[in-house]
Parts: sequence; C-alpha cells; structure tokens
Amino acid sequence: MTLPESNRARVSTRRRFLAAAAAATLAPAGGAWAQPAPAAPLRKPIPSSGEPLTVIGIGTARRYERTPDEAGMAVLRDTLRRFAAAGGQVVDTAPSYGDAESVLGALIESAGLRDALFLATKVGAEGREAGRAQIERSFERLRTARIDLIAVHNLRDVATQLHTLRELKQAGRIRYLGITTSFDAQYAEFERVMARETLDFIQVDYALDNRAAAERILPLARERGMAAMINLPFGRGRLFRAVQGKALPEWAAEFDCRSWAQFFLKYIVAHPAVTCAIPGTATPEYAADNIGAAAGRLPDAAARKRMEAFVDAL
Ligand SMILES: NC(=O)c1ccc[n+]([C@@H]2O[C@H](COP(=O)([O-])OP(=O)(O)OC[C@H]3O[C@@H](n4cnc5c(N)ncnc54)[C@H](OP(=O)(O)O)[C@@H]3O)[C@@H](O)[C@H]2O)c1
Repeated sequence: MTLPESNRARVSTRRRFLAAAAAATLAPAGGAWAQPAPAAPLRKPIPSSGEPLTVIGIGTARRYERTPDEAGMAVLRDTLRRFAAAGGQVVDTAPSYGDAESVLGALIESAGLRDALFLATKVGAEGREAGRAQIERSFERLRTARIDLIAVHNLRDVATQLHTLRELKQAGRIRYLGITTSFDAQYAEFERVMARETLDFIQVDYALDNRAAAERILPLARERGMAAMINLPFGRGRLFRAVQGKALPEWAAEFDCRSWAQFFLKYIVAHPAVTCAIPGTATPEYAADNIGAAAGRLPDAAARKRMEAFVDAL
C-alpha cells in the first residue's frame, strides 16, 4: 500500500513526535542515557512506499532469547528507550529466537514505545496452517495488533508463506512483507525469489569482511525496488575481534566516525541499496554507539574502498 505524500509526512512527523515524547517522559533525571539525542538520524525511504526509516535498527537474536530477571529486563528496556529517543525505529526479531518476541512485547508495552518503533518479525514454518498459527502467536507475543514487517525466514516454504503474508497485508494486519537469508548457499534461490516476487523488503547478511551480498543481491534489490535490511553487520562480533587493540584510522574522522561499531555500520548504510542495518544491541551504551552511525557524514565510494582494503589487510 502506497501512502500519499501528505500522509507519509504525517506518519513520519507523528513517529518523530512519539519518539521525542518517549524520550522526554521516560528519561530519568540525570540518568545514564539522559543526554541530548542526535539531531536528525539519517533516514532512507522504503522503496515500495516512500516511508522513511532510520538507517540503524536493532537485532534481537541471542541477547533477547532468554527472559532475564527484573534487572536484566531493565537494561533491555533502557536499551530500547535510548534507541527510540535517538530516533531509532526498526527492531528485528523472529519466532525462532527463543523468548525474544515475548521479551520484546513486554518491554515495548511497559516502555510505551509501540508507536515509535517499526516491528519486524519472521515466519519460519512448513505449510499454510503451521505458518498462520506461528504468525498469530507472533501477534500475541509482541502484544500488538499491527506488525510492520513479516519476512519469510531463510526462504522456508517461501511460496506458501508469501501467499499468507499477502493476505495479511491486504487485511491491514501487516504493512510490509519480505524474505530473509544469511547463508551464501541460499543466495541463488534468494535471487530467483527476488526476481519473480513483489517484495517490500529483503534481509541479507553483509559486513565489511563479508561482502558477497553486494555482488548481485544488493544491486537486484535496487533494481526491483526492494528495501534491503542487513543482518550480521558485525559478523556476530567477528569484526570487533579482528580490530581488537587497534586504534581507528585517523581518516575515519572524515566521515564522522567515532568508534569501530560506527566504522562497520557506516560502511554498510553508505551502500546505495541498503535501507538499514540491524546490529544485535542489548545495552544502552551499544544502542547509543550504534545509532551514532546514523549521524553525520557517510563514507563515499573511495572511502568505502579504503575501508575494505584496511579490513582485508588485518
Ligand atoms: N536469516 C536471518 O533472518 C537472520 C540471521 C542472522 C541474524 N539475523 C538478525 O540480525 C541481527 C544481527 O545479528 P547478530 O546479533 O547475530 O550479530 P551482529 O549484529 O553482527 O553482532 C552482534 C555482536 O556485536 C556486539 N556489539 C553490538 N554493538 C556493539 C558495539 N557498539 N560495540 C561493541 N560490540 C558491539 C554484540 O555484543 P554482545 O555480545 O556483548 O551483545 C554481539 O556480540 C540478529 O539479532 C537478528 O535480528 C537474521
């Protein structure tokens, strides 16, 4: 569904207002995260609607998979608050991430953040009935009547599940649909699905040291008008291990980069086909650091080449 320009502007203004209001009302006076939010994080439009999305999101695999105690829940809640206060929107989860959908649903409800966030989950099931049952469970666990995006997880029973997702989109229960992978072995099939289906989003693995998606999948996403959401932007932490003990190169300041996380994320979101990246983020400090990659300048094509050479030489 394509929103008219005026509606899109209203939606985006409302989201910004809600995020700012959440920040203003929820920030503890003098609390660790009560610093000014970056002025205007970079947003890119979802090609199928034009709706702008902040280029840095959050992934919830692993760290949200087990329901933590009260103190642990408070840390995750502050992570989401800090993220939303800085203009963050996309939170990605999946029914297969243990308790993650339930944890997220409880956090979003208690923090009053539903309208500020763009909730993305997945369906990974065999057969129409199993897929529908899993999706209904996602609505319950996420405690919401509207899920922004559901994507078919790792292409599982993709034709059946896309059919169901189209019905849900038609009914207004989800706003966007798509497909995901993080395996090179699935790329050929992934490209075939991209070529034959109308999709709002694709989600694929891409990182400074894992660039295969840039060969055909990202250009195809651009050509087909599909938003590209990037998973495993740090290679599950592999990139941090590769630069351990190393200082950021001085030239990173040329694109307003203040940390290794921002170095890795800015490389990704500077790709013209990329809409957003979803780093696994489970502390307020990481949320602030990661969304900082949406502020200031991005590396140009020459700087991106230099970043590749730097990482390849490690
Ligand atoms: N096929 C699919 O659909 C698929 C597959 C894989 C992933 N995904 C999605 O992609 C998301 C991202 O993947 P991921 O979480 O596995 O890996 P990732 O984002 O590449 O890396 C996460 C790692 O980076 C660390 N980290 C995060 N922010 C940091 C910062 N600012 N400074 C230093 N370290 C930082 C985390 O530390 P800690 O360990 O301390 O938290 C964690 O070890 C997942 O959460 C999931 O939503 C989807």
